[in-house]
Amino acid sequence: MALISKSLVCCLFLMFGQLVSSVTGLELSVSTSGGNESSSILYGLMFEDYQHSGDGGIHGQLLQNNGFQGPNITLVAYDAIGDATLAVDTENPLSTAITRSLKVSVPEGASGEVGFSNAGYWGIPVNEDEYWNSFYIKGDYNGPITLRLVGAASGTVYASNTINVVSNSSEFSYIETKYTANQAPDGNNLWTLSFNASSVAGSELYFDLFQLFHSTFNNRTNGLKPGIVDVLTGLNPSFLRFPGGNNLEGWTPDSRWKWNETIGPLTDRPGRNGSWGYTNTDALGLNEYFLWAHDMNLVPLLGVWDGLSLNGPIITGDALDPYVDDVLNEIEYIIGDTSTTYGALRASHGFPDPWPLTHVEIGNEDHLHNGGPTYAERFTAFYNAINSAYPQLTIITSTPLYLPDPKPAGIWLDWHLYSTMGYMVEQFNKFDNVDRAFPWVVTEYACTKWNNGTNVPYPIMQSSVAEAVFMIGIERNSDIVKMAAYAPLLQLENYTQWTPNLIPFNQNPNSIIKTTSYYVQQLFSTNRGATILPVTSDEGFNPVYYVASLSSDNSTYYVKLANYNGTAQDVNITIDGASSGKFTLLSNGSPLATNDLTETQITPQTSSVEATDGKFQVHLPAWTVALLAAS
Ligand SMILES: *[C@@H]1O[C@H](CO)[C@@H](O)[C@H](O)[C@H]1NC(C)=O
Ligand SMILES: *[C@@H]1O[C@H](CO)[C@@H](O)[C@H](O)[C@H]1NC(C)=O
Ligand SMILES: *[C@@H]1O[C@H](CO)[C@@H](O)[C@H](O)[C@H]1NC(C)=O
Ligand SMILES: *[C@@H]1O[C@H](CO)[C@@H](O)[C@H](O)[C@H]1NC(C)=O
Ligand SMILES: *[C@@H]1O[C@H](CO)[C@@H](O)[C@H](O)[C@H]1NC(C)=O
Ligand SMILES: *[C@@H]1O[C@H](CO)[C@@H](O)[C@H](O)[C@H]1NC(C)=O
Ligand SMILES: *[C@@H]1O[C@H](CO)[C@@H](O)[C@H](O)[C@H]1NC(C)=O
Ligand SMILES: *[C@@H]1O[C@H](CO)[C@@H](O)[C@H](O)[C@H]1NC(C)=O
Ligand SMILES: *[C@@H]1O[C@H](CO)[C@@H](O)[C@H](O)[C@H]1NC(C)=O
Ligand SMILES: *[C@@H]1O[C@H](CO)[C@@H](O)[C@H](O)[C@H]1NC(C)=O
Ligand SMILES: *[C@@H]1O[C@H](CO)[C@@H](O)[C@H](O)[C@H]1NC(C)=O
Ligand SMILES: *[C@@H]1O[C@H](CO)[C@@H](O)[C@H](O)[C@H]1NC(C)=O
Repeated sequence: MALISKSLVCCLFLMFGQLVSSVTGLELSVSTSGGNESSSILYGLMFEDYQHSGDGGIHGQLLQNNGFQGPNITLVAYDAIGDATLAVDTENPLSTAITRSLKVSVPEGASGEVGFSNAGYWGIPVNEDEYWNSFYIKGDYNGPITLRLVGAASGTVYASNTINVVSNSSEFSYIETKYTANQAPDGNNLWTLSFNASSVAGSELYFDLFQLFHSTFNNRTNGLKPGIVDVLTGLNPSFLRFPGGNNLEGWTPDSRWKWNETIGPLTDRPGRNGSWGYTNTDALGLNEYFLWAHDMNLVPLLGVWDGLSLNGPIITGDALDPYVDDVLNEIEYIIGDTSTTYGALRASHGFPDPWPLTHVEIGNEDHLHNGGPTYAERFTAFYNAINSAYPQLTIITSTPLYLPDPKPAGIWLDWHLYSTMGYMVEQFNKFDNVDRAFPWVVTEYACTKWNNGTNVPYPIMQSSVAEAVFMIGIERNSDIVKMAAYAPLLQLENYTQWTPNLIPFNQNPNSIIKTTSYYVQQLFSTNRGATILPVTSDEGFNPVYYVASLSSDNSTYYVKLANYNGTAQDVNITIDGASSGKFTLLSNGSPLATNDLTETQITPQTSSVEATDGKFQVHLPAWTVALLAAS
């Protein structure tokens, strides 16, 4: 189709006898000097526990409902084995935070093995790996307990570990063990715990806070899944925004994300009714977020609760004071030295060194849920308190709207964009036209719809090219746009609440999907210049969009290109003094190209290119995102 239209253009021009280029395309000339400094932390990650991106996702805990936390009493994920009867018990709390346990009753006369299974988060990944397993048990027992990893449909046993356990009925005993597993073909597996029925017959045992981890990123206890971390690392991110998003806000003020209930031993963490309809265990808590940022070398961007929850009431005026104090305590916990109350508490949790906190965002999307009219007042209360105690912190608003007038000097503004393809492309100019006195961040954006409003379930090339156009607009203005992140980042496919997502996954082996939007993020983030260079062209933007930059060591020029069109384009790029380079192309010509569970249709392809007198000639097929890295 591209060829036909090109030759049509050619023939028409010949017919009218005009002396013009016979290709559809343009000439770009990249200046090798001048330009603006680009933000060194431009591309990063937005994370909140949504669609089990945390519990069941990047967090390494493999068992669901492991501490019976949350608003509902539920046996979700559990099933009895043998003659046992299961119930959630409220009379044998493990701790003041973990108030429920699993009661396993065994009938008179029972024999053989009895126990229970846990189905994980829509399966348990069982790999050739070492598994670390722990639990609490209460009740009179002295005998074998067998822990297994078993195919849910096949019954195949991939791991089996029998330990001798001695426990009594006066308190919980803590048990931990390690064992290795064989590779299972899929994620449809159960974890089982069984014991000798005859020694408990006519009685019961209580269990609580089960933990099952395979190996973790950097071997951290209570750590992250290395497979998901690897895919995130491939994005070369610079920052991590956490803990939300709506999940910061809570359904009501009382179910907001409470930092002080996500710290210390897991036995001290009650979990909460998350904003997205499921219980958060909070095992991925404040320190785990900072460890994640530390281990991936990311600048932490901490969201703090500011009086707005999803279903109100909105807290304002003097009633905000305790919440402002709570945020000051939170920040002291994060960066206070060990002579401070909360800095000492952090040290007691195993983290004597302050975390490197530099950026704090006040609330989340405060223009929504009726938050707008009170945001200026609420923002100001938090801003004044934080800024006077910690003037070194950069404070970010959660919306560019409803801000105090005048805005305090030095603040940054967050703006989010979820839109149709066409609207996203139109936003290419957005940051050419903003007041440059205040830096911006775009910590959530994605192209989610066709122009007719129909949702795109997986990123497709057309939506990903639209994102690339928007990102080119951001990068061109990255003297004032400091941070940008695609959202949502992760999606457990068995608990889909929103589409499209950057990285869908499930518990099967090799099931972490790099979507077309993933590859766009990767191309932009792994090829970053320190200086954005002026570019002149014989044509304006549309359908080809471009931005050029120079690496911090002045060795490499990057030219990012997006062709948001069904017609192929030839582009000549002149960079004085450059002679060779690599050209990376993400395209197969189709706007519908997609990578999903069933197939990977498209990955970036890189080839070598040579310049003649500083001129590179590149070809952009229809619906392309491309990069020239030249020197
Ligand atoms: C690119 O440069 C070549 C060689 O100078 C020229 O023939 C061609 O027409 C140019 N293409 C465009 C799109 O300007
Ligand atoms: C989870 O989703 C994956 C992908 O759709 C599917 O293969 C798997 O069977 C699902 N697992 C469960 C337990 O539903
Ligand atoms: C009961 O178990 C707890 C926890 O393992 C232990 O500390 C305690 O000494 C035991 N009590 C008796 C009487 O054995
Ligand atoms: C199970 O318990 C019964 C009764 O205490 C005992 O006789 C039997 O040996 C135990 N079986 C195992 C496998 O430990
Ligand atoms: C994690 O532990 C494994 C096995 O003990 C070891 O081979 C590996 O080097 C460790 N990795 C790190 C980052 O410490
Ligand atoms: C956490 O702090 C809040 C005050 O913001 C308080 O109500 C709550 O009891 C604290 N939780 C714990 C476990 O200390
Ligand atoms: C828990 O939060 C959900 C929203 O995620 C809300 O619909 C529900 O009413 C809340 N339940 C309780 C008991 O607060
Ligand atoms: C609690 O149960 C209600 C009713 O079954 C359900 O709608 C809700 O999602 C559950 N909440 C959690 C956090 O599991
Ligand atoms: C919207 O457009 C897309 C792409 O052309 C198409 O697949 C979809 O069916 C359209 N939806 C409606 C409701 O017309
Ligand atoms: C540098 O920033 C100025 C505005 O401050 C803008 O006019 C100019 O186009 C920018 N230069 C580049 C190369 O982006
Ligand atoms: C890169 O070039 C700029 C401008 O010519 C110069 O100021 C800077 O020192 C150079 N940086 C390096 C690492 O050579
Ligand atoms: C592609 O470019 C042609 C020619 O400039 C234009 O008519 C058409 O609308 C463009 N298509 C899209 C989707 O922008």
